[in-house]
Amino acid sequence: MTTTHQYPHPVICIDGPSGAGKGTLAYRLADELGFSLLDSGALYRIIGLLAHKANLLSDATLDLENQLEKLTHSLNLAFVINHETKMVEILVNGEPLVDDIRNETVGGYASKVAVFPKVRTALLDVQRDMAKRGGLIADGRDMGTVIFPDAPVKVFLTASAKARADRRVSQLTKAGKAADYEAILAEIVARDERDQNRSVAPSKPADDALVLDSSELNAEQVYEKVRVFCQSKGINLPN
Ligand code: DC
Repeated sequence: MTTTHQYPHPVICIDGPSGAGKGTLAYRLADELGFSLLDSGALYRIIGLLAHKANLLSDATLDLENQLEKLTHSLNLAFVINHETKMVEILVNGEPLVDDIRNETVGGYASKVAVFPKVRTALLDVQRDMAKRGGLIADGRDMGTVIFPDAPVKVFLTASAKARADRRVSQLTKAGKAADYEAILAEIVARDERDQNRSVAPSKPADDALVLDSSELNAEQVYEKVRVFCQSKGINLPN
């Protein structure tokens, strides 16, 4: 799957586990540069959620990989940046997605459907097509290793599981939601394990990626390090 592709516009890949700060960094880079934003995790989350709703994930008698491939091909997925909410809106078959996909449960479904090579292959075009229209910030696990191996800038943003669980708990608490630290930590560790050890496109830094551990860094410090790295690759960002 790692064939070489040249892209007409610059692509910046931000890979790494959930909760390391990829989303915040990716949004800021897209906003500063006027680039589009590919949130590839959302693609797997949507497929995971729809598969769950269709009872595919709990039916051991199914040929799950082929069912998921069919489901993936039946969807038309698109991303639009909303500058007011500073969020990326997802359109599924032309309609805004109304379901909450940003929770641990859906993250778990996503990680399960993401192990299947046919699902990943079915998502190749929708991801690569986004780089044809203009500059792109690509957020995921395999952006730098598989989807855009020739991208000029690749960052692998990580953080300890404990730091990521702490952040998730404080996000939920701020939003007035219940948060069970131990359960969240266990979910993060299980998902990392699955994402890093699957046979296709495991989550890992590309050989030429800047590897950043954000456990002890705030969003501004992460941005500053990435800004300097981008500059060294000829992409100028304001500080
Ligand atoms: O980035 P995220 O937490 O939204 O991703 C959800 C899951 O989707 C993640 O656990 C693994 C999978 N994923 C993937 O396999 N490849 C990607 N490029 C992005 C996400």
